[in-house]
Amino acid sequence: MSPTAPGTAARTTTSAHGDRGPRPRVEGRSKVTGTARYVDDVRAAEFGSDFDVAVPVTSTRATGRVTGIDVGAALAVPGVRAVLTHRNAPRLRKVLAVSMAEVGELLPLQDDRLRYHGQCVAVVIASSLRAAQDGARAIAVHHDDAGAPGAFTLADGADRLGRVARAGIAPGESTAGDAEADHRAAPVRVDREYHHAPHHHNAIEPSAVLARWDPDGGVTVRAAVQWHHVDTLLIGQAFGLGPAHGIPGLVGRALLGAAPGSRVRLVNALSGGAFGRNINTIHLLLACMAAKLTGRAVKVVLSREQTFSLLSHRGEVAQRLRLGADADGRLISLIQEPDVAKGAAGTYVEPVGEVPGRIYAHRSRLVRHRVAALDLSSTGWMRAPGVSSALFALETAMDDLARQLDVDPVELRLRNHAETDPEDGRPWTSKSLRQCYATAAEAIGWAERPAGGSLRPDGRLTGYGMATSFDLGRRFPASARVELRRDGGAVVSVAAAELGQGILSALTTISAEALGLDRDRVVLRTAETALPYAAGSIGSTGTFSNGTAIHAAARAVRRALLARAVADRRSPLHRRDPSTLVVEGGRVRAPDGTGEAVADLLARHPRGSISRTARTGRTFGRSAEATASFGAVFVEVAVDPVTMVPTVERTVGAFACGRLIEPEIARSQLTGGLIWGIGQALLEETRVDRRTGRWLNANLAEALVPTQADVRSVEVHVVEEDDTRNHPLGMKGLAEIGVVGTAPAIANALADATGVRLSSTPMRVEDLLRAAPAALPVPRTPEVAR
Ligand code: MOS
Repeated sequence: MSPTAPGTAARTTTSAHGDRGPRPRVEGRSKVTGTARYVDDVRAAEFGSDFDVAVPVTSTRATGRVTGIDVGAALAVPGVRAVLTHRNAPRLRKVLAVSMAEVGELLPLQDDRLRYHGQCVAVVIASSLRAAQDGARAIAVHHDDAGAPGAFTLADGADRLGRVARAGIAPGESTAGDAEADHRAAPVRVDREYHHAPHHHNAIEPSAVLARWDPDGGVTVRAAVQWHHVDTLLIGQAFGLGPAHGIPGLVGRALLGAAPGSRVRLVNALSGGAFGRNINTIHLLLACMAAKLTGRAVKVVLSREQTFSLLSHRGEVAQRLRLGADADGRLISLIQEPDVAKGAAGTYVEPVGEVPGRIYAHRSRLVRHRVAALDLSSTGWMRAPGVSSALFALETAMDDLARQLDVDPVELRLRNHAETDPEDGRPWTSKSLRQCYATAAEAIGWAERPAGGSLRPDGRLTGYGMATSFDLGRRFPASARVELRRDGGAVVSVAAAELGQGILSALTTISAEALGLDRDRVVLRTAETALPYAAGSIGSTGTFSNGTAIHAAARAVRRALLARAVADRRSPLHRRDPSTLVVEGGRVRAPDGTGEAVADLLARHPRGSISRTARTGRTFGRSAEATASFGAVFVEVAVDPVTMVPTVERTVGAFACGRLIEPEIARSQLTGGLIWGIGQALLEETRVDRRTGRWLNANLAEALVPTQADVRSVEVHVVEEDDTRNHPLGMKGLAEIGVVGTAPAIANALADATGVRLSSTPMRVEDLLRAAPAALPVPRTPEVAR
């Protein structure tokens, strides 16, 4: 086995609990005992005021105008207090949506124009949820049905496709060398078209927002958001709450660490899942508008169906991918042409072309996005944005290449291993991809696997497949305040968002380690925006970004503590060399064992506690080395030869993501990612009615996600790396990498089992039936196929 990149050490752990034993999540007890507070759980006493309940009314047309709204019957429902429509809604000011969300282009209830089916056209405010729902049913909306019905799929909106300067965070087009010419000349070629259905996040928490206007003219909002400061900005800008909410405010916070001085008091709650959708959501504004209209506090509650149109989704993607290789399978050219569907409003475009050029060595590359704005609810960030569909295409195309050349798929990838970043030749800070292949291959028994399509003892066809996983190691600006208190405990302020990923635990651990305290002496404060600017829980960056700021602040506190110890005549550490002292378990110690408790040291000091704030940035511009996390997923599938129903019998992932701060929680997140990938491969799809633009399966019964029966055996292996050459915490991004290799590995295993190459997600039973060769071991009944 070849070693990792120079300067890194890698080892594999497969034990259940790593070295330190299992540790409960910081918020674990509250979750399992039911005392954790989600927004919809918050009662009047806790919010500080009684509140009404409001529910949105949504459009049944995608285009045209609202010509009238009859609110009389709704207002006659006992308990209904008011109906908010575009006629009486507070006027909002234009906002800059840093998140690229719909609200940057289309603010709710500002005019009569319809842009998509399920758009908010009214909000019914009542004394109870029941009354609000009854009122909402009594609303009659009249439409002007003139004009085109709209286009809701890439096929129907093909005439809208056009090139773009940017596809979300990726350039719209990028090239290296002459990829077309290289492709034509390449001795071995793959050329295939792929399709990826739109789908929704389906977080288990449907979502609610509480809002109250306060006597100082500011607003208090309780919500579950992924990026605290960006949502504070949204509300502040929309309601004109002053300079703290303009771009200077954002820059001031992020770069200068200026105190927010905000009249938006956004109290962040736990999220019951989010996956990219809880950023700049419409109902943050609806709640503030409703509360303004009535002068009373209000809670806006979304129904499950409403989350499909009022929150974002991952848009439809169609792409052509061409690989050109030499006779040994070494890549020469890579040409990727994604067509991406965008919602009617907002600037978010799935960055499908962002990563394929970073995975394997190659000579020339062409990536060209086209985008069509459809008459649909907004597209937005969703788990491994762009990467999930990109890697599905790349990794199944690599499998095609391996089949053409009759080379083992792992061997083909090793031949194309990128020793440096293929885009610019920079060295990787660490890369243990080879160990990931070896570890996962070993765990699934790759070398001894049966021939594809051979029959299992249960009469089903067997197939094995694998794929590479990848995640860019991004880091965003962040700031945090760390206070070491007189009692020897610490309070850490960072407006980070817990979505279920375990960030509270990881940041607590980072704080405790940097301060030399036991973990239970650290209290995290994350709920409020009076805290320093913090990075969002987005794109596998939250723990790394915020952890960096905490680490810097904590190290500054530690330095100040040691300076006090050696300057304090009454301390046994007086006049010691501070560079020789260690802080551990709440004590400061010299090499000879002399020491003193942190609490005693601080208690003697006139200034008591020590507090420091740190601001950290990302490396804007080019750093000398490239950072990314790598992994590999191997799966075993079984396919019924008559019904063609596939099951994923075993999913094995091996990942190298730098140091794991909380190994147990990291494994849990990677496991969840692998399961999400099973959904991407076989189940997840939101179907749109091509006549009306309505999401057809907008409920948890018909929007399929993996259940326990779909998942079977999932195994996560971690190849431990120490990335301290890159960063003092030694960590890299870890989250979305769990998702991205699974679906292509499953597609490759299905091809192995059946000889059928499916190139769309989800891969449905009917697709397999339609494509299956007649020569499967058991005769098929043709009329079973659609
Ligand atoms: Mo992630 S798609 O930024 O939650």
